[in-house]
Amino acid sequence: MLCGMRILTGLQPSGKLHVGNFFGAMEPAVRLQDSGEAFYFIADYHAMTSSHDPVALRDHVRELAIDFLACGLDPARAVFFRQSAVPEVNELAWLLSTVCPMSLLAKCHSYKDKTAQGIAANHALFSYPVLMAADILLYDSNQVPVGKDQKQHLEVTRDLAVKFNEVYGEGTVVLPEPIIREDTAIVLGLDGRKMSKSYQNTLPIFGEEKPLKKLIMKIPTDSTPVEEPKVTEGSTILALYKLFASEADYAVMVADHERGGVGYGDFKKRLADAYWDFFGPMRERRSEILADPGYVDQVLAAGALRAREEANKVLQRVRQAVGLA
Ligand code: ADP
Ligand code: TRP
Repeated sequence: MLCGMRILTGLQPSGKLHVGNFFGAMEPAVRLQDSGEAFYFIADYHAMTSSHDPVALRDHVRELAIDFLACGLDPARAVFFRQSAVPEVNELAWLLSTVCPMSLLAKCHSYKDKTAQGIAANHALFSYPVLMAADILLYDSNQVPVGKDQKQHLEVTRDLAVKFNEVYGEGTVVLPEPIIREDTAIVLGLDGRKMSKSYQNTLPIFGEEKPLKKLIMKIPTDSTPVEEPKVTEGSTILALYKLFASEADYAVMVADHERGGVGYGDFKKRLADAYWDFFGPMRERRSEILADPGYVDQVLAAGALRAREEANKVLQRVRQAVGLA
């Protein structure tokens, strides 16, 4: 472990986890829990910017906690908690908002995208990046692993941190570094667009075998006959297969495309099997977690305690700097 390196990331509890979430957020987070002091949280306040269903919120938080643990989050190494278990984050968000130019938020494409999709343009949706900055700065985070779509929010965080320190003194908050996974930054969905809940093109990571494999068998393809070579460029099947297969198996599938003689049905079957095997150990871990009903609450309670302790230290320093203490 690198001494003093704090790694933080948040995941929104917004339904079933998909392969894009896994490679864009969870897998990097799980890998990074060995290289520093990891703080991982469930961004339940953020989820409320676009959904107001208490039953769904509770369910989604629980599901996400179970799934994240199943995917390898180790509560012995990482501090795992709910965002709302540390309400101090709202105070820091307020303090940051006092130095946040409206123009900084107005240019955020996530806000523009969401309102264009028909999500109500409420204040929380607009100021969402300020709360995200508070999430990060509240724990003196050094590194923040996120998918490419969160890059701009990290830039806003850094802008706010610099501004805050200019106003209140160097070192009031710690400037974080984004870690953007470039190689699997955007995982493609079953229709070839970015995999996203909002496009209904997702491949969930947990669920029943038959319906999940069926989703793969329905990936649209062109009508190249079996015996002819197939286009590799822009192939959804190959892009997904690359995530799950060994390098050697992937090379075989590329060669089979180029040579011809293998049909899309066969490629899809290989993809479905590789996908199913890939998540096998995580499915097993998930069943173990489900068999122990108190486990998740216990993990989150311990994480909240630890996170809150750290948050209060930082907030104390900030309150002092701004003149509230
Ligand atoms: P969705 O687009 O399905 O609504 P979220 O916005 O809830 O997904 O994303 C949660 C996390 O997963 C974010 O960190 C995001 O960067 C990552 N993520 C989501 N979709 C993808 C994707 N297709 N490729 C890579 N990362 C993704
Ligand atoms: N906005 C992020 C997402 O939708 C979730 C998030 C909230 C987050 N706060 C954060 C990620 C702080 C990293 C750091 O994926």
